[in-house]
Formats: sequence, structure tokens, C-alpha cells
Amino acid sequence: MRVLVIGSGAREHALLLALSRDPQVDYLAVAPGNAGTSAVAEQHDVDITAADEVVALARKLSADLVVIGPEVPLVLGVADALRAAGIACFGPSKDAARIEGSKAFAKDVMAAAGVRTATSEIVDNPAHLDAALDRFGPPAGQQAWVVKDDGLAAGKGVVVSADRDAARAHAAELLESGHPVLLESFLDGPEVSLFCVVDGETVVPLLPAQDFKRVGDNDSGPNTGGMGAYTPLPWLPAAVVDQIVDEVVKPVAAELVRRDSAFSGLLYAGLAITSQGPAVVEFNCRFGDPETQAVLALLETPLGSLLNAAATGTLGSLGELQWQDGSAVTVVVAAENYPGRPRVGDVITGSETAGVLHAGTTRRADGSVVSSGGRVLSVVGTGADLAAARADAYRIIESVRLPGSHFRTDIGLAAAEGRISL
Ligand code: GLY
Repeated sequence: MRVLVIGSGAREHALLLALSRDPQVDYLAVAPGNAGTSAVAEQHDVDITAADEVVALARKLSADLVVIGPEVPLVLGVADALRAAGIACFGPSKDAARIEGSKAFAKDVMAAAGVRTATSEIVDNPAHLDAALDRFGPPAGQQAWVVKDDGLAAGKGVVVSADRDAARAHAAELLESGHPVLLESFLDGPEVSLFCVVDGETVVPLLPAQDFKRVGDNDSGPNTGGMGAYTPLPWLPAAVVDQIVDEVVKPVAAELVRRDSAFSGLLYAGLAITSQGPAVVEFNCRFGDPETQAVLALLETPLGSLLNAAATGTLGSLGELQWQDGSAVTVVVAAENYPGRPRVGDVITGSETAGVLHAGTTRRADGSVVSSGGRVLSVVGTGADLAAARADAYRIIESVRLPGSHFRTDIGLAAAEGRISL
């Protein structure tokens, strides 16, 4: 099978490495890729948001399967263009990708499917903002205001704050730039990312994971695209995963089918496990980053066969997924000043070490690898349990050098110490 992966992050590096372990996959390409993915796939520099360029590349490479990593090409309809050209694609249609592209659409689908989620209100007129903040603030018994960009914001459109002025300032800034704002009630409880491979009403869950969105240890500082993750979750009973599949993901998949927007690809449910049960924080229409890097490190089922089954309508006959025992941990190494404007152009050493996945990296003419983005590397450790996987990840990080970089030291720590309970 000839596979083309679209994207340039550590998620795509992880997808490529897992695909390269599949004996059915005999050729791998990536567009545009990064300095690390060139070791495993042929690199092609196309505009991944331009459907015609992606289709032309897939044709030129005689790709049997195209796997789209990031949300932007999906929301723009690149998967539709590939399917229209007769090329199998792992990734939802433009219509189905609205589950991530429009929070208002996702809320509507969840309401129709009877799925528990935060109460919410869309504000698109600055004159209505203060009254809406009063309806959603802590005086109503909540711990914080939750203010989200209604559209795509690469994980950074969300402010969760007990400070009304901070919440208001974020909402006002979004409104001023023409973005409708979603105000939500705060969902209390540990968070879970559950990735499900979905084709229509067929739902195959992967291992549950947890990611760390704040930049600093102990969840301090601003939100980021994700600073680390671990899988599986020792504190989450298997029955709760079944409950999420049955009460959240399957009803949403069925509702999308009912609306003629059947989902085919990776449906990512981000949930809080509240005292009333699992409640949806958000849906994404693609693999999550950095959870994918940890989840795929434990997947034994050949990934190409799994993704191809979803893309070709045969997911139902695939059988149970096989997983390696133990745990996996991702720790993200970020550039100086991330999640603000990151410093780029610094030389990285040690990035070829096993377990180091590349994201914001590029190769200079002199052959050195330099930073080119905010989240630069994902370091993945594995072990017999979470403590061992953490130790492995932080041991690998010791061999990497990037001036000014930072990473969290507490990824998976609370769970490893048994400090998370339901
Ligand atoms: N892990 C967060 C995201 O992928 O959006």
C-alpha cells in the first residue's frame, strides 16, 4: 500500500513511524513534513490547504491512501476532493469536519444526540457580552468562565479563568476581530481524550489518554496546543470508556449519519469526567496532538490496515485492536517564549535519538536541524507502567539540546502517584 500523510507535526511523525511498521505499507510520503519525517518518508512541499495540489500530488505518487493529519485541510474539504478523484482518504468530509470547525454545530449535534456537554451560549454582538458573562460566571456556582473562539484556533482560542476581566478581555478581542464567541459553563473533573476510528456508525476506540494544555507545571500559565500526554489512564475504569463510546461517540456518529454528514476518520472526544458522568468539552475531527504520539507507541495492530479499513468502508470487519502492555508518555519540548511568539532558528542537537519526534523543525543547507515553530519536538517514553514510561521520556529528553527551550516536568505525575480519582 502506498500512503501519503498530510501535515508537518509530531502527530504526523508518529503516524508515519506507525505506518512504517505495517508490512502492508511499502511506500510512504509526507507533505510537507519536517526535518524528522524525511528519515521515514519522501517529502513533498505542497500547500496542504489547496485541494487541487493535494489531489495532484496523490495522483503523481499513485497513493492508495491519503491520511490527513491537521484540521484545517479537513475543514476546507480536501478529503472530499480526494474522494471525488477516486483516492481513498482517512479524514472526514468538509460537512462532517464541522464537528470541530464550528462549536455551534457541535453543540447542535450533541443536543440532538442527547449527549451531555457544558451549557453554552454564542455571543456575536459585543453589546450582549456583559449580560452573557453574568449568566455564565462563578456566581452561578461555577469555578471559572470558559470563553472559546467559535471557529478553529489551534488550541489557543480558549481562556478558562476565574477572573472576569481576563475572560471579558479575551471575548472582546475575539469579537473585535470578527469571531463569534462561545461562553460555556465550567466542567469539573479529570479530562480524557478518547480517539475513535469512525466510519458512519462503526466506532472503534483507541486507548484513552490525557493531555496537558497549560504551559507550566501544576497547570500554571496560559493554554497551549498541548505540552504532553500519557496513556492509558490507570484511574479510568474500562467501563467508563465503554460508557463514552455508547453514550457519546456512537450517538454523535449516528446523528451525523442522520444529517447526511456521515463521519469517516478519527473522531476525537475531549471529555471531563464529572460527578454526573462523562461530559463533552470538545470534539475534534482528527488525531490529537500530543496524545497520538503516546497512543500510537502502544498500538500493535498495523496502522495502515486500520486507517485503510475506515477509508474503504470495511472497519466493521477489522476485529479487535491489539495493544502493547504498559504505558506511554509524551513530553513536548517547546521553543523559548512559546505559547507567545516563539524564538526560531536555534540549532537542535540530539533530535535523531530514538523516541524523539519532530514538529517545528527544519533542516538547514549545512545539514543542521533548527527550530521553526513553537512546539519543536515530542519525546515519547514507554515502560511497564506510567512511572517507568515517565522515567524513559525524561531520560530521552536529557539527550536533546535546544537553547531557551522549556518542557513540563509533571506529565503523568499525578496519575503515576495515584492522585487522580473519580
Ligand atoms: N490535544 C489537543 C488537540 O489536539 O487539540
